Amino acid sequence: MKQHIENLLKNAVLVLAKDHEIPENVINNIKVERAKDKAHGDFATNLALILAKPLKMNPRAVAELLIKNLEPSARIEKTEIAGPGFINFFVSDSFTAEKLQEMRSDVRLGIKEADVKDIVVVDYSAPNVAKEMAVHHIRSTVIGDAVVRVLEFLGHKVIRANHVGDWGTQFGMLIAYLEEQENKYGTDLDLSDFEAFYRAAKERYDSDEDFAVLARSYVVKLQSGDEYCKKMWQKLVKMTMDQNQKLYDRLDVTLTEKDVMGESLYNDMLPKIVEDLMQKGIAVEDQGAVVVFLPQFKNKDGEPLGEIVRKKDGGYLYTTTDIACVKYRVETLKANRLMYFIDSRQHQHLEAAWSIARMAGYADESVRIEHEAFGMMLGKDGKPYKTRSGGTVKLRDLLDEAENRVTALLDKRNSPLQGKDRDEVIHNIAIGAVKYADLSKNRMTDYVFDWDLMLSFDGNTAPYLQYAYSRIRSIFRKAEIEPGAIVLQEEAENDLATKLLAFEDTVKSVAEKAMPHLLCTYLFELSGIFMRFYEACPVLKGDVALEIKASRLALCDLTAKVLKQGLGLLGINTMEQM
Ligand code: ARG
Repeated sequence: MKQHIENLLKNAVLVLAKDHEIPENVINNIKVERAKDKAHGDFATNLALILAKPLKMNPRAVAELLIKNLEPSARIEKTEIAGPGFINFFVSDSFTAEKLQEMRSDVRLGIKEADVKDIVVVDYSAPNVAKEMAVHHIRSTVIGDAVVRVLEFLGHKVIRANHVGDWGTQFGMLIAYLEEQENKYGTDLDLSDFEAFYRAAKERYDSDEDFAVLARSYVVKLQSGDEYCKKMWQKLVKMTMDQNQKLYDRLDVTLTEKDVMGESLYNDMLPKIVEDLMQKGIAVEDQGAVVVFLPQFKNKDGEPLGEIVRKKDGGYLYTTTDIACVKYRVETLKANRLMYFIDSRQHQHLEAAWSIARMAGYADESVRIEHEAFGMMLGKDGKPYKTRSGGTVKLRDLLDEAENRVTALLDKRNSPLQGKDRDEVIHNIAIGAVKYADLSKNRMTDYVFDWDLMLSFDGNTAPYLQYAYSRIRSIFRKAEIEPGAIVLQEEAENDLATKLLAFEDTVKSVAEKAMPHLLCTYLFELSGIFMRFYEACPVLKGDVALEIKASRLALCDLTAKVLKQGLGLLGINTMEQM
């Protein structure tokens, strides 16, 4: 519909352009917006205000002229001029009803695939080997996975890149410690407590010089491809990722072991990259190290920031890997959009790596490279979220607690569910609540982790939306007639219709901006509008004609479908009963 009105306006402008000088970019950028308040129509445009200057007329007169030149359309009931010269469009009810009908009979709910399909690499999750997944990995995992689902739904080719921290000098120490442990306790070690393992390895390294010497020799051996060290290293990677995979599965996150593209993947590229940068005059030797000076970034003294790409001892850095990463993703994976779901504190690092990659020609302007930054997860006290003793909160413990809390909640609500159904409901609510709490806030801001808020059945939460869905489904268990053709008469029906039709635009903007909270807000508002409709317009009972009831049932059905699909795109399950 938006497109339709934009086309009508464009044709009207083209007529005016015959006698007037109108800039090309105005003609090609005609925009209409969905109206916020139904009283002002369904769509509005400020085009007349924009044209006032080139036409040297007052905007209201321009608006009149535009309306006069609009081709008649059955889909538009009327237009009006508002305020200084806005044009409001009122869409015809029967056209809206027809659109809803189409939506309801389409498995994609009327959401068309993108016209231009991208190859998108989505860099997300990226935990570190032999470390517990930290809070910033959880945020990255949950937000990244929602965007991945939306992009795939719109037909883009998505390559999930789990940029696991699987390389670095710490592996000498970890291998030496693993070896020691295996000698003592055999090879069947339970390393599920990474934090403890890492700490113990570090203690050995700091307190025992012989151990430290051995550890350092293992770093060198590993880097030169020594078989034994490689095997021990692989063991550490596998143990970590096996455990993380359990968490991904538990979180209903779509990542699998096939998506691991750890830092080590780029090792072989690094020497050539540094050589190439030097040859192109982008990097220079500076006190034994190889450095790129970036004039656009200044250090504290106002001098260009020197980004080291090879250390004095020949070692490479996190930045070097990220430069290689761009090259690999563009040249080998053929991506034209790179999305990085990473903590906002890494912004400067990323900008530096990307500008070097661009200077070196590893990605041209046709490739979008985006930092989908996010803030920190804070406790209710406003400080970074930690355990009571100040340690990292283990994701596993967090999910256990969520499930315990939901179990208690169901008991309190006297839920009749038993056995497997009950377990499933507990899982869906607990995981849904934790994910939704993260997804529903603008990712750019820090967010406060609050159990009571996220598990509430009122407000913008997963349990609220899941419950709204189950309640609509329960209407169908009571209904004695089938949903029928949609007719829109009441204001509450029209409000609901307008909101339902905005689903497609919402999903598309999530893909464009990598902002899942837009979809959360939409679903929350949809539920509110639905509740008002359900109160104002009797569906099951009441003295209403059967066709009207059937139409209203169809609206209920479509709302349920949109809720299910919308939550599904966020990676959150719905239930018929809860
Ligand atoms: N492993 C890193 C960390 O724990 C995140 C990696 C993000 N991806 C990237 N291409 N740098 O902070």
